[in-house]
Amino acid sequence: MHKYFAKPLFLGKKIEFLTECHSTNDELLKRVRYGDDQEGYILYTDHQTKGKGQRGNAWISEPKQNLLFSILLRPKGLSVRSSHYLNLIAGLAICHVLDEQFGFESELKWPNDVYVNDRKIAGILVETILEGYQVDDAIIGIGLNVNQGYFSLPTATSVKIESKQAHIDRMDLLESIVSAIEAQYLFLKSQAFEKIQSRYYQKMRWRGELHTFKDAEGTLEGEIIGIDETGRLLVKTFNQLKRFDVKEIEFLH
Ligand code: BTN
Repeated sequence: MHKYFAKPLFLGKKIEFLTECHSTNDELLKRVRYGDDQEGYILYTDHQTKGKGQRGNAWISEPKQNLLFSILLRPKGLSVRSSHYLNLIAGLAICHVLDEQFGFESELKWPNDVYVNDRKIAGILVETILEGYQVDDAIIGIGLNVNQGYFSLPTATSVKIESKQAHIDRMDLLESIVSAIEAQYLFLKSQAFEKIQSRYYQKMRWRGELHTFKDAEGTLEGEIIGIDETGRLLVKTFNQLKRFDVKEIEFLH
């Protein structure tokens, strides 16, 4: 994979490729801690030996088949309460590219799993370094299944499987996604929170539908209304409006 983008983006001015690493998020974090913290720094790899997912899960990906990368953002002035917008813009950017280039109708399963035809195609892990109540550095880690043709998990899929294309150029896709993140990030920088949220709602899987969930007290039926000001999920049951953090709810059916 080559290391420069054709389009002039402010994200991706610095790009580093590693044939293998534990986790691109951890590698980028290491560089930030050594003071190498240029906004837009992208680190990508062909293989992660300790890829990290949300909720402490592992992110497993076949070597040389998929996109595994992290981008450093430095969203000046973004409060911790609004830091979930970083997840939203990354998810929206991936959906935009997948829909535009492959004709998918992708969806975002709260908080930010990207789904195509009811199966997960990409995951996002945002890690932040805070300065008081504000986000100083944010590492946006993205794993997008591109050319992998088989998954042991029946709930996973790839661009190749869903598009039925023989082979997808990963570097082209990386450049398109970075360009789309840049566009969304500019909205965030101009504090267009409502615009981002309404776009997220258009993509939000199960929003406005009745579904079954599991929380600490057992199963519950409810309708996803949206998210609150800190990114918690809002579910309306027959008699109350409930709010959930990521670890507090499981989507059943
Ligand atoms: C999820 O659980 O859905 C989030 C998965 C995020 C995986 C990506 S791959 C690149 C980056 N490095 C990591 O260790 N994780 C993220």
